[in-house]
Parts: sequence; structure tokens; C-alpha cells
Amino acid sequence: MSSHNVWTHKGTFLLAAVGSAVGLGNLWRFPYLTGENGGGAFILIYALTIFAVGIPILIAETMLGRSSRQSPIMGMRHLTKTHGSSRAWESIGWLGAASAFLILSFYSVIAGWAIHYTWQMLTGSLIGADAGTIGAGFDALLASPALLTLYHTLFIIASGLIVGLGIHKGIESGLRIIMPALFIILLVVLGYSVVHGDIGAAASFLFTFNIADLSLEGWLQAMGQSFFTLSLGMGAIMAYGAYMASDASLTRTAFAIAFVDTAVAMVAGLAIFALVFGAGLETGQGPGLMFVTLPLAFAEMPFGALVGGVFFILVLGAAISSSISLIEPVAAFLVERFDMTRPQAVMLMVIASWAMGLLTVISFNIYAEGTIFHTLFGRSAFDFIELLTNIFMPLGGLMIALFAGWSLTHAEVMKEMHTTETWFSVWRFLVRFIAPAAVAFVFLRSIPHVEG
Ligand code: PFF
Ligand code: NA
Repeated sequence: MSSHNVWTHKGTFLLAAVGSAVGLGNLWRFPYLTGENGGGAFILIYALTIFAVGIPILIAETMLGRSSRQSPIMGMRHLTKTHGSSRAWESIGWLGAASAFLILSFYSVIAGWAIHYTWQMLTGSLIGADAGTIGAGFDALLASPALLTLYHTLFIIASGLIVGLGIHKGIESGLRIIMPALFIILLVVLGYSVVHGDIGAAASFLFTFNIADLSLEGWLQAMGQSFFTLSLGMGAIMAYGAYMASDASLTRTAFAIAFVDTAVAMVAGLAIFALVFGAGLETGQGPGLMFVTLPLAFAEMPFGALVGGVFFILVLGAAISSSISLIEPVAAFLVERFDMTRPQAVMLMVIASWAMGLLTVISFNIYAEGTIFHTLFGRSAFDFIELLTNIFMPLGGLMIALFAGWSLTHAEVMKEMHTTETWFSVWRFLVRFIAPAAVAFVFLRSIPHVEG
């Protein structure tokens, strides 16, 4: 085996990064945040942040991975050493690993809900159900630690198996099946929503901009969402970047990832809101939009059970192609640093993150609002973990931007970027000034949450 692994094809990094980017963030979080924040104005800020901040950091993070050719922690250690820069930058790798571990823990629990709904849809148990029944079904799911733990366990084992098989046999082969299937299913669901939903109402909801509608909180959420959706600051992109072909273009790839991720969010948003409007339902339902409102829309529509089942398979596929990118950076680190075998490393990460996920599981029942734990700590464990990741994620992005923008020399960047002086200057201006300012802004949002 060579000293480092590289993806089989020049385009595999793009496939893997799109797999990481497209996930619950697009299908679940983006639509409900847009719904809660009044539509068009939210999308405008989101799109601006993707371009001015997301893409430059995406380029920077891929660059750090590819130039070090190691897992984020060891890679940053290597870069700071060869560079003589402060070892403090190593914390980029550690922050990433910590975020990946924490995000996987709750991501898997929520993805587990989609297993439940895939099952419910395909067995036809929701056909003709009314709002009360469907809402009560969701509440009953959340009230059951056993059921939540079962789905969480199934999902995280499936993710671990893919990564355990290695980057070629597991991740690459898995994504080559999952990703094309996702795009086909997404188009099927869009087609269905055009026929049976109200696509006109959805389009005007999503694309009518009235910037005055947007609260400060909405601005901050839009910016936070643009980091989450591109998988930034968590080592996932850096870990995948370590396997990227040397001659693949960083800039073109980053634009392609952002374009596909945004397109999927828009198409999912259009389809979901078309169904929601078509069934005369509310858009501002928050996290329940996908698990309560949407099943209700499917329950009332022709072939709704089948298309709904297929839709939740889409959710599962998108979630698993993202969760594997959360396992990879930590597993690769354990292999490099402690000489573990890949299966051992994956097992360790998965078991630890699974156990952490139990805190999210009980946050919806044993530890929910009104219980003694909640009163004791002032918030649920799930809220606390989300809060931590909301701090770590922008902090990681900020440090990546600063390190790439200020610490790397022109020659070092050009060696990876192979680009024109003009684009180099634009990129460097964005990572030096615009991205840090924007990230600091998002970061400050967490402060009142910490105090409150
Ligand atoms: N980008 C993923 C989504 O939109 O669902 C979530 C995610 C995956 C975030 C992997 C971070 C990460 F490292
Ligand atoms: Na995403």
C-alpha cells in the first residue's frame, strides 16, 4: 500500500463531498428554517453566505486536506510543523473531530426517525390519517426511548459498516449507488409534487424577497445553515480532501459542490412546500415539518403512501452519505495515530458516538422539558449538544479561513490552487476578511444562548 490513499477517480472527491453536503441539512433543516423565517429573504441571505463565505472556506478546507494528505488532526500537526507556525492551529483538527463526534451522535438519532417513517409509509399505516393521528404518532415515537434507540442503533451501524469497509470498497462504492439513486428519487418526488401539490404557491413562497421580513435571528440562522449544509469546519471535507487527486481543480470542485447542494435544497424545498400548500397546511411548523406536516400531505394524496415511502428512503440515503463523512476523519486519525485497524477505529468512533447519542434520545422523553434533569441544567442534552456544535462549527471555519488566508504563503496556496492571480486575490481577500467577519457574526449569536 502507498503511504497515502487517493480516490480511484479524479471526480470521486466531488462525489464524496456532495454526498457529505447533501443530507438532513437540505431535506429537513433547510425547508423548516425557511418556513419559520418567512421564505425568500431567508434564502437570499443563505445564498449570499454560500458564495461569499461558504465557497472560499470550502476551498481552504479542501486545500488543507490535500496538501497534508492526512487526517485533520495529524494533517494540521504536519502543516504547522513543516511551516513553523504555532501549534495552536492543530486545534482545527481537534475541534473538527469533536464536532464530528457530537454531530454524528444526534444526526443518527434524527435520521433514525426516517427509518420509522419509511416503514410507516410503505406499510400504508398512515393512509387517510388525520392531523391528530399523525401528530400523536410523532409524539409517541419521541416518547419512546426504546424505539428511538433501536432506530439510532440501526442507522449508526449501517454507517459504520460502510466506513469500516474502507474508502474504496466502502465509501466510494456505496456513494456510487446511493448518490444517483438520490437524484432520481428527488426528481420523482418533485414531479409528484408538481402534479398533486401547489408548485406555484411554493415558488412564490420561496422566491419572493422581502428583506424587511427577516429578523436578526433569521439572518444568523441563514448563515449558520450555510456552514452546516456545506459540511464546513468539521474535518469531513478536510478528510475527504486528503484523498483528492492532485490535478483536480479546487475552485471548480468547490463551486460544483455548492451548486449541487443548493440545488438539492431548493428542489426539496419546492417539492415539500408544494405538497404542504397543496394540502392546505402550515409552513412554519419547525422541526416537525418533515415528520408531521409532510406525512399528513402524503396521507391525503393519491399513491401518497408509496411516494412518501420513497421520499423517506431519499432522506435516509442522504443522511447516510453524510454520516459516513463524520466517521471518516476520526477513524482515519485513530488509524494513523494509534495504528488501529480501520474496523477497530470505526468501531471505537461509532460506539462512542452511539453512547453520546443516547443523551439525544432521552432529551425527547426522560429528559424533556419539565423533567428534573431539564430543570437542573436549564436545557435538554440535545439542545446543549447542538449549542456546542453551533459554537465549534463556526470556530473551526474561522480558524480554517485564518490559517489558509494568513499563514499559508502565495506559493503554497498556488501549488494547490493552480489558478489566476485575480482569482487568487479574490479568494484570499474573502478568507482573510469577509469570511472571518461573517463567521464571527454567526459565532456571536451563540453567546446569548450560552447565557440564557
Ligand atoms: N452537510 C450535512 C447536511 O446538510 O445534512 C450535514 C453535515 C455532514 C455537517 C457532515 C457536517 C459534516 F461534517
Ligand atoms: Na447540506
